[in-house]
Amino acid sequence: MCGIVGCALRRRASDIIYGGLKQLEYRGYDSAGIATLSKGQLSIVKRQGKVRMLESCVDDLSGNVGIGHTRWATHGKPSDVNAHPHSAGKFAIVHNGIIENFTELKQKYFPDVQFLSDTDSEIIVRLLDKFYEGGLLPALKKVASLLSGSYAIVVICTDYDGIAAVKYKSPVIVGRGADGNFAASDAPALAGLCREISVLEDGDFALIDCAGISVFDNDLNPVERKIRPNLATPANLELAGCPHYMLKEIRESPRAISNTCAVFHTAEGELKKICGGVNRVILTGCGTAYNSGLVAKRYIEQFARIPCEAEIAGEFRYKNPVIDENTLVVAISQSGETADTVEAARLAKNSKARVVAVTNAPYSQLTGIADVVIPVAAGPEICVAATKSYAGQIAALYLLSGVLSGRDLTESLLQIPALCAQTVENTDISAVADMCARSSGVYFLGRDIDFAVALEGSLKLKEVSYIPSEGYPAGELKHGTLALIDENAAAVVVITGERLAGKSKNAVEQVLSRKGKVAVITCLDGIANELKDRATIVKIPDCGEFLSPLISSVALQLIAYKVAVTLNRDPDKPRNLAKSVTVE
Ligand code: F6R
Repeated sequence: MCGIVGCALRRRASDIIYGGLKQLEYRGYDSAGIATLSKGQLSIVKRQGKVRMLESCVDDLSGNVGIGHTRWATHGKPSDVNAHPHSAGKFAIVHNGIIENFTELKQKYFPDVQFLSDTDSEIIVRLLDKFYEGGLLPALKKVASLLSGSYAIVVICTDYDGIAAVKYKSPVIVGRGADGNFAASDAPALAGLCREISVLEDGDFALIDCAGISVFDNDLNPVERKIRPNLATPANLELAGCPHYMLKEIRESPRAISNTCAVFHTAEGELKKICGGVNRVILTGCGTAYNSGLVAKRYIEQFARIPCEAEIAGEFRYKNPVIDENTLVVAISQSGETADTVEAARLAKNSKARVVAVTNAPYSQLTGIADVVIPVAAGPEICVAATKSYAGQIAALYLLSGVLSGRDLTESLLQIPALCAQTVENTDISAVADMCARSSGVYFLGRDIDFAVALEGSLKLKEVSYIPSEGYPAGELKHGTLALIDENAAAVVVITGERLAGKSKNAVEQVLSRKGKVAVITCLDGIANELKDRATIVKIPDCGEFLSPLISSVALQLIAYKVAVTLNRDPDKPRNLAKSVTVE
């Protein structure tokens, strides 16, 4: 999603904003812009492309007050004109979110005006200009009252030596620093600038100048928002010698697992209370988070014998689900800001279900809705493709299944970080990556828990390499997908349990007999020996069927990474995507 940053400083603002935007680029990278205010004059630079397109202009932007934006286009294609900031009269604004009623507002207030951009955001600055009568906050409140949708908006006005912000369903944090004060979408923008931050709540307004930060509620009454440590630091945002964040973060998976286990006790007491009498569990999330829910469904049904479903949050929220006070809804989200997941959790809460959040973002919207938060302690994840957070989510959900079943499963996880590290360091995936890079389509197959992992492997590959890919239950192949197999197609088959190994091997034979190429990710010596002459084998450590996703997924992530690099894709910033999808 888009990233925004604004500041009022005792020094030049443009380079600080530029640095902040670089840190927020994972939220969108199709265009970027900066506006500064100097002696009552606005200067604006905006460019299509990544934030670095602004680098040469930073020195030309004088002024100690400014705002910046890195965009993930929703309305209006990526272009210089559609890039933020947008300006009108005395104002320039940056916006993250979607203004759903922008067409109606334009027709009502500006029927004959030709807007400069195709964005939904330009209406905000036009309305500010229209309703401004000398008071920045009253004008912003009036405008906010007209908007439907979601918004984090930061504004500069030539009459005010600072910035103003308002937020609804899109995140804004504020922070005090040695050189002045800040607003931003997310903590990494303020790493090294602010040790502490506050998170604005829906309906909050903020006025930020060089001297301080004032926060107001929706009625413009002053309010205090909790001060919290900024967990993003320059050190934990570094690449640490890796060429890409994706690789760095895959390598951090063992630590994500051990740290998540280490902090689980902070939620355990409350979880035990909330889980009593639960007769149904729904796990919900999007993308990778949903895929970790598919793995956890298996845990909860196996260990607790409680009926459990995994639901895609964007579907769940609109399907009038059958839930009541004995249902436990577990919302899974790395960012804690994904609009569909946040709304799914809100729906569950309003339906009186018990709501647990599993998230890597301790101050996110999701944590404000949930009754109990299970922390995923993966540390900041910068690569758009989720990797270490998937490992952390699975560890957290595994321990949750322990609580639901009245068993302490901690011990069974103890050996996993070491086995995961061994997989990261020693697994040779180059032949498989080569096979995938040369294929017209790659089909990831598995049965039972291996199928859940196959889905995640497929998502990762298509996301970072752009090779068409699907994940299928191995048994389903013959019911349709087999028609896609020819000498240009490849299958990656995950086989980690003896119980279903023979069945998955049938799928391997079916692909081979149609001249497709096959790689097998397995911990089973028997399978490796049987297939080694006809398929590429990737041997992974054996840790038992149920915990195998923490190992096999790492091999699949490494394959996706290697394919992306081989094909000259940027694995950290895949085309058309952004992290933290805060709009529908
Ligand atoms: C895939 C990926 C996405 C996210 C999804 C949910 O690699 O990163 O599919 O998993 O957008 O994001 P969160 O977990 O932040 O809710």
